[in-house]
Amino acid sequence: MGRVQNKVALVTGGASGIALSTAHLLANEGAKVVIGDFNIEGAEKVAKSIVSRGGVATAKFLDASNAESIKEAVDYTVETFGKLNVLFNNVGVTNINKDLDVVNIDLGEWDRIMNVNAKSVLLGSRYAIPHMVEAGGGSIINTASMGGVASDAIRTAYGASKAAVVNLTKYIATQYGKDYIRCNAVAPGLILTPAAESNMSEAVLDIFKKYNALPYNGEPDDIGYTVLFLASDESKYITGQTIEVEGGHYIANPTIADSNAFINSQDK
Ligand SMILES: NC(=O)c1ccc[n+]([C@@H]2O[C@H](COP(=O)([O-])OP(=O)(O)OC[C@H]3O[C@@H](n4cnc5c(N)ncnc54)[C@H](O)[C@@H]3O)[C@@H](O)[C@H]2O)c1
Repeated sequence: MGRVQNKVALVTGGASGIALSTAHLLANEGAKVVIGDFNIEGAEKVAKSIVSRGGVATAKFLDASNAESIKEAVDYTVETFGKLNVLFNNVGVTNINKDLDVVNIDLGEWDRIMNVNAKSVLLGSRYAIPHMVEAGGGSIINTASMGGVASDAIRTAYGASKAAVVNLTKYIATQYGKDYIRCNAVAPGLILTPAAESNMSEAVLDIFKKYNALPYNGEPDDIGYTVLFLASDESKYITGQTIEVEGGHYIANPTIADSNAFINSQDK
């Protein structure tokens, strides 16, 4: 018996990175998985790979910037597998050339990022909840980010949109808890996915690693296992929470390195 045996899950952005890994973990533990992505070839490849390992999966075109497309993917999931138990609202975007500081950010980019990152979570949940009520409950998991918890020099829209995801998670949990629908978020720190690696040089990745409590940068299944837990009944009393999965990057007082250097210099 798998940890999510016979649950039906829709995973958005599943052609790559965090949600690709999560789709495999859910399928390994017995879920039937729909891989939603606007990269439909990529989504089909992931579904095929799951099926070739004995799992149950199919791909569906989903554009997270388009309400109708999100609704179609939710409806397709229910038509294909008869119900919907788990929704992983994972798609999120930024643009390090245009999503800048408050004075310089491209306002069109602000709108696009808020639409894709925050509104898609609202919409996915809006269309999934009636099906989950019908199924007697469900689990919605949203991908936030540590960028929605702490601030940065640029990526202002990204951070604001992910902060919106953190609070939207609580609203959904509050409004539908009585229907046995749980809603939680996962806030990744740096995770080595194609998106992160294409945005950051080796030198910057090393700086991230240096400030982690753990000695390495995160990998997609570090998030996938958290999502698997939140999707399963093992987490049945957890709702409205954002779980920070970030290698201990943000836990220490940021002055610690400078303070230690100063204290050591005084000792000499
Ligand atoms: N990788 C990190 O370091 C990191 C850190 C914090 C948060 N996150 C968040 O994790 C999530 C996944 O990121 P990732 O690193 O796995 O990215 P990724 O680029 O590896 O995968 C993203 C997937 O989303 C799909 N996608 C993008 N826009 C879409 C749209 N409008 N409609 C449908 N599909 C779309 C892409 O085709 C791709 O398959 C995002 O919400 C991101 O903000 C990532």
